[in-house]
Amino acid sequence: MFYQWIRIACVSWIFITPAAFAHEGATGVVKDRMDRFKESKEIMKQLKTRLDDPAKASELANRLLDWAQVMPDYFPVNSNPPPSEALDRIWDEFAAFEQAARDYEEATQAFIDVASQNAAGELPTAYRAIGQACKDCHNRYKD
Ligand code: HEC
Repeated sequence: MFYQWIRIACVSWIFITPAAFAHEGATGVVKDRMDRFKESKEIMKQLKTRLDDPAKASELANRLLDWAQVMPDYFPVNSNPPPSEALDRIWDEFAAFEQAARDYEEATQAFIDVASQNAAGELPTAYRAIGQACKDCHNRYKD
């Protein structure tokens, strides 16, 4: 009975580990950027509920902007060992990748500008533009 339990525990461990701890293997700059991206996702979630509050929305979007400005620095050449989901294409066309980061930065800046004009009515559209910039980059550069 006890051994049976151990066996089940071991087998489940093997199957559960890769999914649950996929990011455990990430180190250095890869782990750093994954953390920043996870944080971005969290900020986007919070931002969605604050579109009627330009001051708070602006504060959140500024955190996205900070990351946008340094993002390409977190992609040194060929830094995509597993479990990274970054595609080789990033380094095949790094200028285009930097442009994608800039497009994202501009969408984030546009959102902040709208927020600073207190134009809450325009925030949902500006928010969608940020989300689209995330998606555009993922479609081309993320597995
Ligand atoms: C210029 C390109 C680019 C932009 C813009 C971008 N991402 Fe990413 N994102 C990537 C790449 C490349 C990866 C894969 C990184 C890796 O696994 O090494 C990634 C990974 C992620 C991940 C997975 C992180 C993990 O733990 O594996 C999340 C979540 C994410 N991005 C969210 C976002 C959100 C939200 C936005 C916009 C607010 C965004 N990203 C904007 C390129 C981008």
